[in-house]
Amino acid sequence: MKTIAGMVLGVLVAGACSGSSTPAAPADDPGLVAGRDVFVRNCASCHGSAGGGGRGPKISEGRTADLFPAIEDQILFVAEGKGGMPAFSGRLSAEEIEDVVRFVREVL
Ligand code: HEC
Repeated sequence: MKTIAGMVLGVLVAGACSGSSTPAAPADDPGLVAGRDVFVRNCASCHGSAGGGGRGPKISEGRTADLFPAIEDQILFVAEGKGGMPAFSGRLSAEEIEDVVRFVREVL
């Protein structure tokens, strides 16, 4: 029994690690809840549901806070785009961009 339970747990953990679903935002933070929604609709297609990467690079697990120590620089990057990364300034409001950047930095 113990072995079977361990195998089931292993499968569940592997499923979580494959990035098949977008992690929940803390319900008491409206900015992060909105940012999750923006992420699912605009970013997950390239960066993966959990930000693990795909057409675009991995942006989960604190990667972007390392790349952009100042949140303003990450907001600017998402607004202006670069190479295969589209510019979002024309599609999202400044508030939506800030929310999604916070979601990527704080939740993914
Ligand atoms: C059409 C695919 C695509 C979509 C949609 C997309 N990205 Fe990207 N993203 C990329 C690519 C490709 C790069 C690498 C750009 C480069 O450095 O040339 C990138 C880079 C990034 C980076 C920098 C990471 C790094 O390692 O250079 C961040 C942060 C980022 N994207 C966030 C977002 C956010 C937030 C959204 C949604 C609002 C989003 N992306 C939507 C393709 C995409």
